[in-house]
Amino acid sequence: MCGIVGYVGNRSVVDILLDGLEQLEYRGYDSSGIAVMCSDDIKVYKAVGKLQNLREELRGHESEFTASKMGIGHIRWATHGAPTVLNAHPHTCTCGNLVIVHNGIIENYKELREKLSAQGCVFRSQTDTETVAHLVARKYAECKDLTQAVRLASEEIEGAYALCVMHNDCKNKLVITKRNAPLLIGIGEGEYFAASDVPAIIKHTKKAIYLSDNQIASLTPDSMELFSKEGEKIEPKVEILPWEPVALSKMGYKHFMLKEIHEQPDVIRNILVGRLHTPDENIILNEVKLNKETLKNLNRIQIIACGTSLHAAMIGKYIIESFCGIAVDVEASSEYIYRKTVTDEHTLVIGVSQSGETADTLTAIKQSKARGSHILIITNRPDSAMAREADSLIPVNAGIEVSVAATKSYIAQLMAFYLLALYMSEIKDSIAASTLTSLKAELMILPQKIEQILARKDEIQAVARYYANTKDFIYIARGINFPTALEGALKLKEISYINATGYPAGELKHGPIAMLDETMPVLSILMNGSVYEKLLSNSEEAKARNARMIALTNSKDEKLEDLFEHIIRVPDVQELFSPIISIIPLQLLAYYIAEFLGKDVDQPRNLAKSVTVE
Ligand code: M6R
Repeated sequence: MCGIVGYVGNRSVVDILLDGLEQLEYRGYDSSGIAVMCSDDIKVYKAVGKLQNLREELRGHESEFTASKMGIGHIRWATHGAPTVLNAHPHTCTCGNLVIVHNGIIENYKELREKLSAQGCVFRSQTDTETVAHLVARKYAECKDLTQAVRLASEEIEGAYALCVMHNDCKNKLVITKRNAPLLIGIGEGEYFAASDVPAIIKHTKKAIYLSDNQIASLTPDSMELFSKEGEKIEPKVEILPWEPVALSKMGYKHFMLKEIHEQPDVIRNILVGRLHTPDENIILNEVKLNKETLKNLNRIQIIACGTSLHAAMIGKYIIESFCGIAVDVEASSEYIYRKTVTDEHTLVIGVSQSGETADTLTAIKQSKARGSHILIITNRPDSAMAREADSLIPVNAGIEVSVAATKSYIAQLMAFYLLALYMSEIKDSIAASTLTSLKAELMILPQKIEQILARKDEIQAVARYYANTKDFIYIARGINFPTALEGALKLKEISYINATGYPAGELKHGPIAMLDETMPVLSILMNGSVYEKLLSNSEEAKARNARMIALTNSKDEKLEDLFEHIIRVPDVQELFSPIISIIPLQLLAYYIAEFLGKDVDQPRNLAKSVTVE
């Protein structure tokens, strides 16, 4: 994770850096820092915690840097070393002449640190990054060329990195490079920007260059040179970013998360535009580039994802298997990449990611691509690293999601799976035409059903207050809503820090039931359909152990009143679409509990929106 920015030009640099970092705060908020080139020396400012703390730290120092036109900045999600001022970036070499900001992980930092310490380098932090500052400084001492020094240092570094480097000897030169971490250059008039992501630069320019791995760029106000890792000059590929600067606003909601929960009906409508017009017409999914014959004969799909996207993928498996009869495996990307997976050119590999930058998923995708699989990416960021690896790309168009806890992107990912499965089932002819029509008709009215739930959010808020002080929470479900139980629990734990776990209800009696007593809330996702009666029995078993029972249901079954202390009612829906309906109250429940507890809902502790380290 972490976010980096850099600027060299003719404008006062500090506001540009702070503005850029604010746009990257989704990448981490453990600490932040900037280094600016002043006439006499490089000056470094750092603060622990959110960017606001750095702004306060800078107050009173304005006279030191108002004339400064070049600088680098960093927002940190701590990997090596606690979030302290000493560990905050930028890091400097022993004499302080060279400064560096870094996103990624230097895997061989221990060996490098030992070697550099033996050579006399003085380390001040516990970070992996500081080794790079010393390493580049030593290379610079030998060759007196900053670009060359960065290039030589990168030959000795193992791991992932995006780097911005400045040296006191080069008063208007910024050197940047990357490997397995995102970095782009923004091109302005007499100025260049460097950043981990588009939002940090889009206010200033739409002209950009996405750096490829191992490329090194040297930037001055009026020149840009790009080099390969061998040091040869490369012609840069300039792109026009398909972005508009957006002023991110909570639109009157207390938190972005609540606003994003409320955006979900429109997210569904958006993803249907151009793809599903009426229930009688076929799904249009021009994004899928596999030819129809291949799709027809496809017999294996692997889906790879992390976190909330993994839960969407698990539901995707149910949907594709039910609609198309194709076997689907789902795996957490971090598990997929370190074992011998059976993936080849006959496997369709689907990567799911809101950000399109998640390091584990990106690595998994690259591995599968190298084995010849067709790569289909479902993402909210069609300009991301993952999208660049895609053979087929389904953008989910959920709009920027600011809250670290994913909500609307999850609904959008589920919709992508429904569309994909229906599209494939039409090609494979695996569902009767009348059934297909009724499925599509139901898909189109899901937004209204979500609106009905949102209109009654006060009832969920009341339930949230009742359970807000619990230490643990159990969610149970079966079938297609088991991943909903996992996702509901993830939402609660990540924003309220309550120990919440989702279980397949049938598994309760194989161990977890031992935890149940009169203090434990058990929320049963009891949606009409094939497993309703089974789940009802499992809920009875939990009740018999005195658990505090809550139902989330679309059933009118009267016996629920005796079994459950609280019942959250949702509109009726076909079982296969129930995950879209059942997750909404769970997002709201998590939100209201966290809000009641006074937690930092949009930026929960220890998390970041984009996880670009393994
Ligand atoms: O950007 P991605 O969808 O690849 O991110 C995956 C997870 O990091 C993400 O879903 C995370 O679990 C969220 N905080 C969940 O709310």
